[in-house]
Amino acid sequence: MLSINLKGKKAFIAGIGDDQGYGWAIAKALAEAGCEIIIGTWTPILKIFTQSWSLGKFDESRQLQNGKMMEYLKVYALDASFDRPEDVPQEIKENKRYMDASGYTITEVAAAVEKDFGKIDILVHALANGPEVKKPLLETSRNGYLAALSASSYSFVSLLQHFGPIMNEGGSCISLTYMASEKAVPGYGGGMSSAKAALESDTKTLAYEAGRKWNLRINTISAGPLRSRAARAIGFIDDMIEYSKANAPLVKDLKAEEIGYSSAFLCSSLASGITGVTLYVDNGMHAMGIAIDSEALHRSEAVTT
Ligand SMILES: NC(=O)c1ccc[n+]([C@@H]2O[C@H](COP(=O)([O-])OP(=O)(O)OC[C@H]3O[C@@H](n4cnc5c(N)ncnc54)[C@H](O)[C@@H]3O)[C@@H](O)[C@H]2O)c1
Repeated sequence: MLSINLKGKKAFIAGIGDDQGYGWAIAKALAEAGCEIIIGTWTPILKIFTQSWSLGKFDESRQLQNGKMMEYLKVYALDASFDRPEDVPQEIKENKRYMDASGYTITEVAAAVEKDFGKIDILVHALANGPEVKKPLLETSRNGYLAALSASSYSFVSLLQHFGPIMNEGGSCISLTYMASEKAVPGYGGGMSSAKAALESDTKTLAYEAGRKWNLRINTISAGPLRSRAARAIGFIDDMIEYSKANAPLVKDLKAEEIGYSSAFLCSSLASGITGVTLYVDNGMHAMGIAIDSEALHRSEAVTT
C-alpha cells in the first residue's frame, strides 16, 4: 500500500507558538508519518509555549492516530528577523521578553541544531509578521513594509542559507503563503501581500539554486484562511472563512490538518519530482474568478448552487 513514511527523518519547524496554527498542524502530520520534530519558537513567546506544553494545555492536540502523543526533540528560541547576534538592536536585547534569551538569531539556531542533531531532512517556515498589517498598503510606512518583508520573506531565504548546508540530500523545504500575493485582499495590508508575493517568487529561484547546490526541494503552500493566533490579530479572519465557504468550489470547513497532510506529502519521497511549486490547499478558492455570493449574481440565472 502506498503510504507516507518519514521514519528516520528530522524536521525543523520554525513558527510554532501554540496548537492553533499551521506550524502545529504540519508538525503533527509529519509526526504521524514518523518524523522527529525540532521546533523554533519566536523568542518572546517561548516561555509561554513551553509552560503551556508542560502544563498539558496541548495534550488533546498532541494525540496521534497511533495512540501516542506528539513529542519534540528540542525547542529553540528563534527570531527570524535577525541573522547574526550583531544584527539585534539594543532595544530588543533589553526588552524584558528577550533579556533572558540568547542564541536566537538564525545563524546561531542553525549552528545549535547541527551541534545537537547533526543533519536534518525537512525545513518548515510557518511564520509571518507585519507590524502594520492592519494598514492599507497606501498608508504603509517604509519601515512597516520592510519589516513585513524581513520577518515574512527574507526569513525564509536566510533559514535556507543557514540550514541548507546541514540538510541531507533529497531534503524538502516548505513555506506558507496566502492568495493575497496575487489577488487584492482588502485588509491584508502593511506590505504582507507584497511579502507573500516575494515568498512565492523566491520559491522558484530558491528551488533552482538549492536544487542544484544541495539537491533540496523547495515548495510553498498557499493555504486558505485559518483561525490561528496570527490571523485573529489581523482582525477579519472570521469574515474570510465565511467568504471562502460561500465562494470556494468545495463547500466545507478547511481544516489545518489538510495543510498538514499536504505538507507531509510534499516532504515525502512521493513528491520527489516536485519543486518550485505553489500548491493551493484552500478548498479551490484560488480558482474562482467571481464572488458567487454577490447580490448581483442572485438576480441572474448564471449560478447554480
Ligand atoms: N491563518 C491563515 O489564514 C493563513 C493563511 C495562509 C497562510 N498563512 C501563513 O501560515 C503561516 C503560519 O501562520 P498561522 O496563521 O498558522 O499563525 P501562527 O500564529 O500559528 O504562526 C505564526 C508564527 O510566527 C511566529 N513569528 C512571528 N514573528 C516571528 C519572528 N520574527 N521570528 C520567529 N517567529 C515569528 C509567531 O510567534 C507565530 O508562532 C504564516 O506564514 C501565515 O502567513 C496563514
